[in-house]
Amino acid sequence: MDGITEKTAIEGSKIEFKKVSAHFGASVTGIDVSKPLSAADHQALSAGLAKYEILVFRDQDITAQNLMDFGGSFSELTVHPFSPNDDNNPELIVFDNKEGNPPFSTDVWHSDETFRLEPPMATMLCAKIVPEIGGDTMFSSMSAGYESLSQKIKDLIEDMVGVHDLGPFKRLFGGTTEGRALLLDYGNRYPLVAHPIVRIHPDSGKKVLFVNPQFTVHIEGLTQRESDHLLDILFHQAVIPEYQYRHHWEPNTLVFWDNRSVQHYAVHDYYPQRRKMDRVTLKGTVPVGPAGPSVFLEDYLAQHDNSEDGVDKFGGHRPLRQFDRENPDL
Ligand code: OGA
Ligand code: MN
Repeated sequence: MDGITEKTAIEGSKIEFKKVSAHFGASVTGIDVSKPLSAADHQALSAGLAKYEILVFRDQDITAQNLMDFGGSFSELTVHPFSPNDDNNPELIVFDNKEGNPPFSTDVWHSDETFRLEPPMATMLCAKIVPEIGGDTMFSSMSAGYESLSQKIKDLIEDMVGVHDLGPFKRLFGGTTEGRALLLDYGNRYPLVAHPIVRIHPDSGKKVLFVNPQFTVHIEGLTQRESDHLLDILFHQAVIPEYQYRHHWEPNTLVFWDNRSVQHYAVHDYYPQRRKMDRVTLKGTVPVGPAGPSVFLEDYLAQHDNSEDGVDKFGGHRPLRQFDRENPDL
């Protein structure tokens, strides 16, 4: 190993990893993704994902079924509630963006589907048709983002939880009576979730920063103003160039990202050129951190009374009234 390339130590696997940026990400050779995975290769890739956070596989001329089989060998595949799911295979999302079909709202830093109590462990995206210019995907390491916070902020956020909701997807429903009824139904299926802000990665044991500007709307126990400012600081960690990897797509490149430890941003600079990608999403587990496991917000609120801090259960803020103060006579 020379620090940039690494042959896996797993016996029976020919896989090699080559780093693609300073903090995270590796391209993988020695594997044909269209063939069933051997146990040794599976083990090597699982270890590689935990270590590198993103794996890039080039020149993989695979079918959608191959992608589903490859993804399905790591975890059950999940169905996205709002994306353009394939009619025959709801676990498969086909993004076919071109004139008349502009890209989805993925041009914001995010981890996928953190409005779920169990957000995906990983996502796989495979390029089929790429624009001549543009259409890159940016990734940012949230283990690097966490590590580089000051100790004071690390201490502050250690036991905090972030509230995640459906975010921009709520806009998809429009202002009709049917749209509002459907939104209510989705709200019932995906109630607000309180995720630990500091998450312990279950495989690497690393601490990662688990908030994102697409879905995290509030930090529990803070006033709205405090929460907005602290979230602004935390969201900024994704934007620091040193912790990023910018992926330029070629057809038949597959990227397997660890949704627990990276955020991503789809650069929307190619419309109306065509960009066609296949995606599958891998089921994850309940996040766990020093603040405990993720729970629905209503369960968190039942266990935590913040009212003495001037913060009520509406996540708002009320000025301390005279009778609230410790010594009202002063
Ligand atoms: C996604 C996503 C990025 C891209 O599929 O979750 O954000 O570059 N896509 O299309
Ligand atoms: Mn995404």
